[in-house]
Amino acid sequence: MTTAIHADAAPQDTTPAPAQRFDIYQPIHKALRNFMGDTLSRLGRVDVTDAEDLAGALSQVESLLDFCAKHVRHENDFIHTAIRARQPAGASRTSEDHVEHLESIDALHKETRAVYDADDAQRHVLALRLYRHLALFIAENLQHMHIEETANTAALWEHYTDEELMDLEARLVATISPADTMLTMRWMVPGITPQQRTALLGGMKAGAPAEVFQAVLNAVRPHLSAHDWSKLTRDLG
Ligand SMILES: [Fe+2]
Repeated sequence: MTTAIHADAAPQDTTPAPAQRFDIYQPIHKALRNFMGDTLSRLGRVDVTDAEDLAGALSQVESLLDFCAKHVRHENDFIHTAIRARQPAGASRTSEDHVEHLESIDALHKETRAVYDADDAQRHVLALRLYRHLALFIAENLQHMHIEETANTAALWEHYTDEELMDLEARLVATISPADTMLTMRWMVPGITPQQRTALLGGMKAGAPAEVFQAVLNAVRPHLSAHDWSKLTRDLG
């Protein structure tokens, strides 16, 4: 038997809300999920008899693979290193995953080149193989990112203050080239909530040169709905 609870009769929830901690993984992983999902979808509908469509889809696959390889290195060099500095056995599962991810990225690069190089008869088959293998790589990454966002984040929150984590992120971000920053913004900004967008771009508006801020806005605008764009421009003033 179930018991209906009406809003006016529901007991007050007296549990204190958990303190909002700095979440180093969330925005970049939302960018990755957005980039992965869009790329897989594009590859699934590619017309292999249309040279321009095929080149666009394959170059997006290669851009995603390069982005993923750099992301692994950032996490290895900064986040896993930070966890191990204060919890020596920490992040072992996700470190092992990273070794496999780099091998998968290498194999997927080879499969992408094989589609380019194939003759007309083989291209359909090789494009479908790449699509399926990319899907498996993404499936593995979705599970992997969940472990990072739960277990690794718990370790970071246990051993570091938010100020230290923000400093860690700033040192990581400082190593990213302007072109890679623009690519990150292109996938991150449409992939996060309006509130996160306002915080991210508000910080950029205050801290970055005006022409850089404007270039980021120009890069993301085509990928936001009219509704989201009007919210963003309203919130940024
Ligand atoms: Fe990772």
